[in-house]
Amino acid sequence: MLATLDEGGYDFGEARFDLNDPADREILRFILSQALYGEATGVYCGKSLYAAGSLEAARFYLRQAKQELAHLELFADIFRGLGLVPLEAHWVIRLLSSHNNYYPLKVLMEHAIGEGMVLDIFKDILLQTLPDSDPRVPLIKKKLRIVCREEIEHVAWGEKETKRLLKEKPWLRTPYYGLIELQMSVLPMLVRAFEKRAGKHPVLVHLPGFLSHVRARVYAQGRELGIVPAERPGLFTRMFAMLYGLMLFVRSQFARSTSKLEKIYISELGLDGSPGSGGGGSFTSDEHDDDDKAHVVSDTPAALASAAPSSRASA
Ligand SMILES: [Fe+2]
Ligand SMILES: [Fe+2]
Repeated sequence: MLATLDEGGYDFGEARFDLNDPADREILRFILSQALYGEATGVYCGKSLYAAGSLEAARFYLRQAKQELAHLELFADIFRGLGLVPLEAHWVIRLLSSHNNYYPLKVLMEHAIGEGMVLDIFKDILLQTLPDSDPRVPLIKKKLRIVCREEIEHVAWGEKETKRLLKEKPWLRTPYYGLIELQMSVLPMLVRAFEKRAGKHPVLVHLPGFLSHVRARVYAQGRELGIVPAERPGLFTRMFAMLYGLMLFVRSQFARSTSKLEKIYISELGLDGSPGSGGGGSFTSDEHDDDDKAHVVSDTPAALASAAPSSRASA
C-alpha cells in the first residue's frame, strides 16, 4: 500500500501534454471522461452502508461517499477549466466500475484493485503529464493531489478488509486470484484506441511501459495480500482460478445486499453489557458466515454453477 504520493510510480520523464493542441486535448478528454465516470460510480460506495458489518465500516463508507461526491464535482471543475466536454465512458471502465453487492468482491475489486488503478492514472499520468507551464494547471494539480491522498485511504481500506475476509474465508483466495488475472487481461483493451498514435506522441509512447508498470504493481499488491502466488502458476491453474472468479462474479450480480446495523448496533456501541464489547469492532466469524449465506450459497465452483439466482440487487 502507498503511504505518500511520491512512492514508486511510473516515470513519464519529460513527456507533457500540450493543452492548446487539439489532438492532445482529445486524448485528455478521453482520460478525464473515464475519471469522471469512475467518480460518479464511486459515490455508490454509500450503498455499502446498508451492508456495513461494523461501525468502523459504516463510518468509512459515509466518509468515502462524501469524498467521491467531492471528487466528481472536482473533475467537473477540471472539465470546465479546460473547456472540455465529457465523452461516454469506455466499456472496460464501465465493467470495472460496476457495482457489486457481494461484499468480499466489492472490497477487492472496487477498493483494493480498482481504486489502486485509478490512483495510478491520477498520480502517474495526470500529475506528471499536465504541463506546469499552462496557467490552468497548478490549480488542477492542487485539486488532484487532494483526490490522490483520499484515494490512497480508499485503497488502504480495501486492502485491510480483503485481508480480514481472507483470514475468515481462505477459499476466497482462488477466485480472488482469478479475478485479478481477468482484470489484468482486459486492461490492454483500454489503450487500443491510442495504439496507432502511440509511436509518435511523447506521452503515448510511454503507454506500453505504463501498462506493464500497472500490471506489475497489481500483481505485487496481490502477492502482498496473499492472493497472487509468488511464482505465476501454469495455464491450467490460472484458467481454473479465472473460471472460479468469473462464476463468483456472475453469482454476485444476483446477490442481495442484506442490512446489518439494526442487528449489531447495541454491541457495536458497547451497550450490551458484555466485557470488552463495542467501540466499532468487527463482526465475529459466525456473524459473517450467516451474512454470506445471504449472498453466495456455496463456495465451490460446482455449487456456484448450479445455484439458482436469488432476487436481484436492491436499489
Ligand atoms: Fe474518487
Ligand atoms: Fe475512491
